[in-house]
This record gives sequence, structure tokens and C-alpha cells, in this order.
Amino acid sequence: MTIADIFAQSALPRLETEIFVSFLLQKNREFLLTHPETPINKATHKKFLILSRKRQDNWPVAYLTGQKEFYGLKFKVTPAVLVPRPETEMMVEEIIDIVKKDKQQHVTSTIVDIGTGSGAIIIAVVSELKKLKNDIFKNSEFKASDISAPALKVAKQNAIKHKLSSKIKFYRGNLLQAFKFKQNQLNKKHLIIAANLPYLTSTQINKSPGINHEPRLALDGSKQGFKYYRELFKQLKELNLNEVKISLICEIDPSQNISGQKIAKLYFPTANIISKKDLRKKYRFLVISI
Ligand SMILES: C[S@@+](CC[C@H](N)C(=O)[O-])C[C@H]1O[C@@H](n2cnc3c(N)ncnc32)[C@H](O)[C@@H]1O
Repeated sequence: MTIADIFAQSALPRLETEIFVSFLLQKNREFLLTHPETPINKATHKKFLILSRKRQDNWPVAYLTGQKEFYGLKFKVTPAVLVPRPETEMMVEEIIDIVKKDKQQHVTSTIVDIGTGSGAIIIAVVSELKKLKNDIFKNSEFKASDISAPALKVAKQNAIKHKLSSKIKFYRGNLLQAFKFKQNQLNKKHLIIAANLPYLTSTQINKSPGINHEPRLALDGSKQGFKYYRELFKQLKELNLNEVKISLICEIDPSQNISGQKIAKLYFPTANIISKKDLRKKYRFLVISI
């Protein structure tokens, strides 16, 4: 058996076969193309067949290889966390733009990532800000929370992997309650909240076999998909952070754009609420400036 034989016999699309063979051999894809005669031993072939079967049973490629690229960084992923999606990358850019504006206005930012999962959003933000080599990285605070202990464990491992564990504080708890914020802690600061909370409706989940290996806790936003955002808005309002500038960026399903705006307006009638599109030009984010 050779690399060429595996490709000839594989029941998977070419790209997925390439990903698995390159993962098993620890060789890049160029190597597979230029060395098709490389022998594959029995043990490796068996491992390939197991991966192939799981993939055909809709296991995400990222769970099978244990990693996923997000914002140019490699993240460890396990079935305890949602596989970070490319559409979420725009949230990272949005946050970085907001923090850069804060710097121009001499305002210090506190950035929190609620429902951090693998830690993808907060780690990508912090590692981009670190690259700027100015005092934003030094002066800003970074926090992340999740209700799931196994997810937080993965997020912390990713922070260590990217050498950012001393910069990001992780908390377990229900949305904002995890942080136990006090008004005087945040005075004169800009609180930037990134939230990619479960927002799919139960019907959407039942119709998507491709996601049934991912944690329901990461996906299911109940009937209309807005259960967690409603709760987050309620918690934020109850904190009474009247003196604090707040920006809240929520990832949504494009179908929730109008309803999401209306719900946000109910909680924050005087806020500036705008919708932003993802890379596929679909409404994907609500940016709520309070
Ligand atoms: C859609 S996933 C997003 C994961 C990650 N932020 C990303 O963008 O890839 C939602 C995350 O919210 C977490 N979560 C669910 N309910 C929560 C709650 N009440 N409080 C905090 N986190 C929660 C889930 O465990 C999951 O990790």
C-alpha cells in the first residue's frame, strides 16, 4: 500500500483524504503530491480507515485531527468545544478596531469573551494586539468565561500553547456572572464584550446532521435561538454599569438580524445598534454600543 493507493481507494473527498494522510504521516500536502510512491504500513492504513469511517459518520475533521486553524492560529479542539468557524474571525477584527480607537482616545479596554469554548476569539485578539508592539497589550485586560469546565480546560491549554496564559484570566460561570464585576473596577474603562453564544434554534439543529457531534450546550439557543442573548442582556442591565462605556458584539444567525436588533433595543433603548456582515456577506453580528 502506498500514498497513491490510499487516494485511489478513499471514499472521502480528495481534500479530506489529503488532510488525514498528511496528519497520519506528519507530512505536508506538497509531500503527498510529490511522493505518491511512499509506502503506508498496515497500522497507518488501519488508522486511516477508522478516520475515514468516522468522517463518513459526520465527525468534524477538526475533532479527528484534534486541531483547527482560526485567524491564522492553530487551536486544540476536542468534542468538549465547538469547532471555531471562519465566520467568527470577523468578530476578532471588530474587537481589534474598537481597541485601536480606544487607544487613540486614551481609554483603557477590558475585553471579555463570554462562552469562550476553545478560547479562539480571546486568544486571537490578544495575540494580534501583542503583535502591535504598543502599550495596548500591556494596558488592556483580557478575561474569558464558559459554563463548561471541560471547555475551559481546552481554552486554558490553548492559551498556554500560544504563550498567553499569563495575560488571559479564565472564569467558570453563567455568562457575565462568572466575572463578578463591580462598577468601580470598570470606571473610566471601556468594557468590550465578545459573545458567540449558542444561537441555533432546536429545529435548525435537528436539520443539520453535520453538527450532531458538537456539544449541544454550544449550539442550542432554544426555540427562537435567543435564550442566551436575552439572559446576557438582562444580566448586563442589572449590573447597572451606568458610568461605564460598553460595547457588546454578539454573533447571530443571519435570520435573527431584525429580531435580534428589536430584542436588543428592548433592553437598551438608547444604545446604538448596528448589524455587521461576515465574509460571506451575511448579517452575522450585532454591535451594541451602550
Ligand atoms: C457557540 S459556542 C462558541 C465557542 C467559541 N467562543 C467560538 O466562537 O468558537 C458557545 C459557548 O458558550 C458556552 N455556554 C453555553 N451556555 C453558557 C452560559 N450560560 N454561560 C457561559 N457560557 C456558556 C458553551 O459551553 C460554548 O463553549
